[in-house]
Amino acid sequence: MSGHREDFSFHGLGELIDKTRELGLQLPFCEDLSPLARPVTLGSRTAPNRLAVHPMEGCDGTADGSPGELTIRRYDRFADGGAGLIWLEAVSVCREGRANPRQLHINNDNWEDFARLAQRIRQRARAAWGGEPLLIMQLTHSGRFSRPEPGPLRPVLAYHSEPLDSKYGIDADAPLVTDAELQRLEQEFARAAALAKKAGFDGVDIKGCHRYLNSSLLSAHDRPGGYGGSFENRTRFFRNLVAGARQATGGEFLVTTRINLYDGIEPWPKAWGMDESDPGRPDLTEPVRLLHEFAQGGMALVNVTMGSPYFNPHVNRPFNRGEYAPPEHPLTGVARMMEGARGVRAAIPQLGTIATGYSYLRQFAPYLAAGMVRDDWTTLAGFGRMAFAYPDFARDILTRGELNSAKVCIACSMCTTLMRMGGTAGCPVRDAGVYAKILSDLIRKGAQP
Ligand SMILES: Cc1cc2nc3c(=O)[nH]c(=O)nc-3n(C[C@H](O)[C@H](O)[C@H](O)COP(=O)(O)O)c2cc1C
Ligand code: SF4
Repeated sequence: MSGHREDFSFHGLGELIDKTRELGLQLPFCEDLSPLARPVTLGSRTAPNRLAVHPMEGCDGTADGSPGELTIRRYDRFADGGAGLIWLEAVSVCREGRANPRQLHINNDNWEDFARLAQRIRQRARAAWGGEPLLIMQLTHSGRFSRPEPGPLRPVLAYHSEPLDSKYGIDADAPLVTDAELQRLEQEFARAAALAKKAGFDGVDIKGCHRYLNSSLLSAHDRPGGYGGSFENRTRFFRNLVAGARQATGGEFLVTTRINLYDGIEPWPKAWGMDESDPGRPDLTEPVRLLHEFAQGGMALVNVTMGSPYFNPHVNRPFNRGEYAPPEHPLTGVARMMEGARGVRAAIPQLGTIATGYSYLRQFAPYLAAGMVRDDWTTLAGFGRMAFAYPDFARDILTRGELNSAKVCIACSMCTTLMRMGGTAGCPVRDAGVYAKILSDLIRKGAQP
């Protein structure tokens, strides 16, 4: 596969803009960063600025699924960092739905630990920068990527697909999750949403991205029964989860979603959001149809993303250094993500968006974030890896008017490698005091990604 491993060697914003033009891409860069400082109302809540921390899993919860020492350290850093919204990482609604044995999991016995975390984030933020970020908890079931205990995957399958099954050695006759089991999980999501509300969060995300259980059902074209086939059936689980969470939490609580606008899994053409005649291109028809329904039902905010970290990481998080050379220039991936957010904003103006895909741009990311907000291609700009590397990115953007190039994420994928080696995820490059040691210990023990 020919690939793009070239260094990120732009000496100024002008050179970066020239490159986007050379690639035939249009991105709304803007040197005036003031749009990012504007508060914004999302349903019943107001975010104090337009910068968000995306959900970033650390795989460092305790055995019962509560936030562990490194989890609390991560959110301390995010709280101090000045972002107007913090999207708490994937929190499983049941033990068997965890993607790793240290994934967070909210339940009747530990919800108060999450309440303490939310309270701590708000207190620290007030002390550090005088504001309070909105707090959204991402609720998940990992589906075919479930690995609740050390050892092999324990996949919960929405359907079979040769390219997806063979990558993880899943037998063609392995049982699918039943409709009755999906109905039981609908109750689990509703219960978890009620606990998140009780714990003091502003809202929950019914996770609909990255090909975990809910996301994969969206493309269950060939699944028999009530959750496969037609658009209505494929979106039934998602719609029931959103309605169930709303019913369980009521009134002003935000029920939102982080949704894939485009799965991008080639060569299989029937994945969600893909143009069947050209699978390399998104087709937003179905995602927009579903989001339109959600917005009509009162959803005020959506976090938009694409791809899967397991099948096409370059679509999911544009990088120029990692496990393989991406088959497209990372700027092409950035532009796809931004166009996706723009498509949703244009189609459903009453639905606020958080766009994804800025970290690859290093110190130039704020200029795209500002242009995206200025031109209403998105409502907020979310940062993932950048928040690991440079947790006070928002404060520097808003108070210094720039990012320090010595602190930015360098899109090297080492945080993901750490995770794949079974470690706790963080940034060994910019947070080396903690994570370089974790990485070297894993290497010494012979762990493999
Ligand atoms: C180590 C790691 C953990 C992640 N954990 C989550 C997660 O829990 N939930 C989620 O929706 N996305 C997760 N993501 C994806 C990020 O939120 C984000 O979409 C992605 O990194 C692209 O944004 P960026 O370019 O700003 O990094 C994770 C990414 C990485 C690298
Ligand atoms: S390890 Fe650090 S610098 Fe590298 S991609 Fe992850 S957050 Fe960015």
